Amino acid sequence: MDAILIRGNNQPLRGRVRVSGAKNAALPILCATLLSDGESRLRNVPALRDIDTTAALLRFMGRNVEVNAPEVRVLAGSDVRPEAPYELVKQMRASVLVLGPLVARFGRAKVSLPGGCAIGARPIDQHLKALEAMGCTIRLDRGYVIAEGPSGGGRLKAAEVCFDLPTVTGTENIMMAAALAKGRSTLLNCAREPEVEELGRILNKMGCEVDGAGTDVIHIKGAEPGSLAPFDHAIIPDRIEAGTYMVAAAMHEGSDVILDGAELSDMEALVSKMRSAGVDIESEGQALRIRRQGPIRAVNITTAPHPGFPTDMQAQLMVLMCIARGESVITETIFENRFMHVPELQRMGASIALRGNTAVVQGVDKLYGASVMATDLRASASLVIAGLVAEGETEVRRVYHLDRGYEHIEEKLGGIGGNVARVRNAES
Ligand code: EPU
Repeated sequence: MDAILIRGNNQPLRGRVRVSGAKNAALPILCATLLSDGESRLRNVPALRDIDTTAALLRFMGRNVEVNAPEVRVLAGSDVRPEAPYELVKQMRASVLVLGPLVARFGRAKVSLPGGCAIGARPIDQHLKALEAMGCTIRLDRGYVIAEGPSGGGRLKAAEVCFDLPTVTGTENIMMAAALAKGRSTLLNCAREPEVEELGRILNKMGCEVDGAGTDVIHIKGAEPGSLAPFDHAIIPDRIEAGTYMVAAAMHEGSDVILDGAELSDMEALVSKMRSAGVDIESEGQALRIRRQGPIRAVNITTAPHPGFPTDMQAQLMVLMCIARGESVITETIFENRFMHVPELQRMGASIALRGNTAVVQGVDKLYGASVMATDLRASASLVIAGLVAEGETEVRRVYHLDRGYEHIEEKLGGIGGNVARVRNAES
């Protein structure tokens, strides 16, 4: 498996990075193509392993998918197999996003249960509860969820659903199910992430009436069966990728980096924390300019659903706190096991004490390069960022995870002065 080798130095990062399209917006939108026939065209799609996995899943189900990042075309094939096998779901939990569209469009779905993953148990009870409210019969059989529309595969009916907690893919799955249900559904306590709002835009383009996506209450008037149209759409920028480069830039005093295509309004909680830490962030047209002129101050963060501080930026911000002046308290409230970067950062000289879901970070003067690895995408990104300032060499192993979510990370960091290289087939 490949590794990423980073030679840390004291050189500030300077230059421009183009932000790619949002992985977590592209995945549900690819699944939404199941709701219609004809050719849908997605633009600004990142070249990532998760996109390839979703394409493989759609092909398994009988769709014809051409991936030529940044463009993906999806065409309906003649036969549909409404099934997501374990082999694909185990590679990517977001595969569960086919459940809603499949049962809405074809009256049935067989989708492997995703199981737990490196960051927590991650149940899908809220997805299933909402589908049941829409008239689905759900059964679990040998690791698979088997869902059937009313009266043995009929059309779903609209429902009022109140999620027990805001779930991103849960909200998205049920929006897609409601898109072809009979009547007007009301979804309460919805996730408000920009990616959910983006899916609302797509469903509107396809021809159903979605109102409120991006707020906690979403109304959806289902379209008549067979009436949803294919679409052509450019995906929004990836706010987590942008945030990751923002933190990378902030690691060195004197850095001056422009993030082309970053959307400030989607990143307010992060930007506000970074500014409190002493990083200068300004909007310049369609770009954000990140400059660091003085030392980093310690700030406390608690992750929360959007618009709160994103759990997907917790690991990266922790790395910044590792070199801050003072003590920072970081609390993770979304996932129960999302501190896998901590022992690796400790090996690089960070001073971090873990107490349950809280990490107390004491800033240190220096980090040291080491051979490290992580089993989660964002944790892996945090280790690459740490390597940028560490003395000596850092080897981040198992880059498989990074490749799921960061397009050309070594080239993008290299383009702004980071000394980052990929080592093919390194020992894992
Ligand atoms: N939850 C339940 N029951 C459910 C669904 C969720 O208890 O039926 C819990 C989860 O266990 C978790 C919380 O609700 O404690 C929130 O989870 P959510 O469902 O919102 O997460 P997700 O939809 O599985 C998406 C992103 C994640 C991101 C989270 C939180 C996609 C494809 N994935 O996951 O992204 O961390 O929302 O913002 O959109 C990543 O990109 O690295 C990543 C992990």
